[in-house]
This record gives sequence, structure tokens and C-alpha cells, in this order.
Amino acid sequence: MTRQASADLTGRVTADVVRLEAMRWWHVEDAARLEGELFGVAAAWSAETFWSELARPETRWYVAALRGEDLVGYAGLMTVPAPSGRTAEADVQTVAVAPSARGAGLGRQLLGALLTRAESCGAATVTLEVRSDNEAALALYRSAGFTSIAVRRGYYADPVAPADAVVMQRRGPATPTTPTTGTTETTGTTGGGAS
Ligand SMILES: CC(C)(COP(=O)(O)OP(=O)(O)OC[C@H]1O[C@@H](n2cnc3c(N)ncnc32)[C@H](O)[C@@H]1OP(=O)(O)O)[C@@H](O)C(=O)NCCC(=O)NCCS
Repeated sequence: MTRQASADLTGRVTADVVRLEAMRWWHVEDAARLEGELFGVAAAWSAETFWSELARPETRWYVAALRGEDLVGYAGLMTVPAPSGRTAEADVQTVAVAPSARGAGLGRQLLGALLTRAESCGAATVTLEVRSDNEAALALYRSAGFTSIAVRRGYYADPVAPADAVVMQRRGPATPTTPTTGTTETTGTTGGGAS
């Protein structure tokens, strides 16, 4: 499988266009590097953690956002199969956007892709945890219909920046995922998993 940059109708590479596709093994190294930049050494997922997630396609689904060949974002969902007589549930594992790609609707689109996936899996609820001081993420989740259902005191035990976790939940169908900038396209977001 080759990695391809986006090209417009004249064949020129359009470096500003962001596309979404299923996260695959060749995205892992860049995802781990971006993770370290965004969350710091203590909290960042390692490449091994991404490998472990991608190795469970029956319950995990990850999407990568690419601008040209550059990974500028990613998001992941865990679905919990429904026990007999009950509905399925889903958890947002992560949503992340590189600083250079923020404020253009990509975070909302990545989250929308997860919600659509959760709905297609029959999940009646989508749950997540977020640092209580992460104003951008809290606002993103609230705007997508998540509400706070609990607070876990001292959940993030980072010695430099400890924080509570806000547990948020969303019920009902997915929000339509309309790009806010017109520069985002979606391709091949089915599947996921290492290959
Ligand atoms: C949170 C994050 C994913 C948002 O990505 P983004 O692409 O900049 O977000 P969007 O442009 O799609 O913005 C969607 C909404 O999020 C909220 N938001 C985004 N950035 C914000 C900021 N700096 N301050 C307040 N609200 C913000 C707004 O409600 C915004 O809607 P609006 O543009 O209509 O006001 C991004 O800041 C990020 O990757 N942060 C670091 C990783 C992280 O904390 N992930 C969440 C872990 S739980």
C-alpha cells in the first residue's frame, strides 16, 4: 500500500486539504510523535499503545486526518458489545488535532466520525473522560451534545499538572458532520486495525 498526497484536478498537490481515513500501521509512528507533543511524556500514548489498540478491530476504531502526507489529527472509539437484552455502549478513546490544524473544524469532524461509527454499532450512549482544565475539549464535547455525568477527583495524577476527570456522556443519534471550512474531505473511514 502506498501513501498518497491529495491532488487537485490539475494534478497539483493540495497541501491544505485534510482528508480522513482509517488509521493504519503506517500512521502509528506519526501518531505517537504527535501524541507526545500534545499530552507530554507522562501522559502520551506510545507507539505500542497504538499498536495494541489497532490490533483489536472488533472493539476499536481509529480514524486519521491527513494533510498531504502529514498526520494532523486522529481519533479513536471503543465499542462495548451489548450483553443479551441490553444495548451496546461506546467510549471515546482519544481526539487530537495538531496545533497547525486547529480552529478549522477538524476536531468536530473527527468527533462526528466517531459518533457516526458509534451509531452504526448500535451504541445507545457514548462516554468519555476529559481533564477538567481542558477548556477546548470540554467546549467541543458540549457542542456535540455531551453532558457531564460525574467528576473523578484527582484522576489525572500528573505531578506537575494534576487534574480531575470530567465524565461526559451523550445519548441518541450522531450529529451530522458538516465541515466548517470546506477544506476537509473524507475517504475510506471503514475498517481500522493493523494490517
Ligand atoms: C480539543 C481539540 C481536539 C479541538 O480541535 P479543533 O480542531 O481545534 O476544534 P474545532 O475547530 O473542530 O472546534 C470545535 C469546537 O470546539 C471548541 N473549541 C475548539 N478550540 C477551542 C478553544 N481553544 N477554546 C474554546 N473552545 C474551543 C469550540 O466549541 C469549537 O466550536 P466553534 O468553532 O463553533 O466555537 C484540540 O484543541 C486538541 O487536539 N487539543 C489537544 C488534545 C486534547 O486535549 N484532546 C482531547 C482529549 S479528551
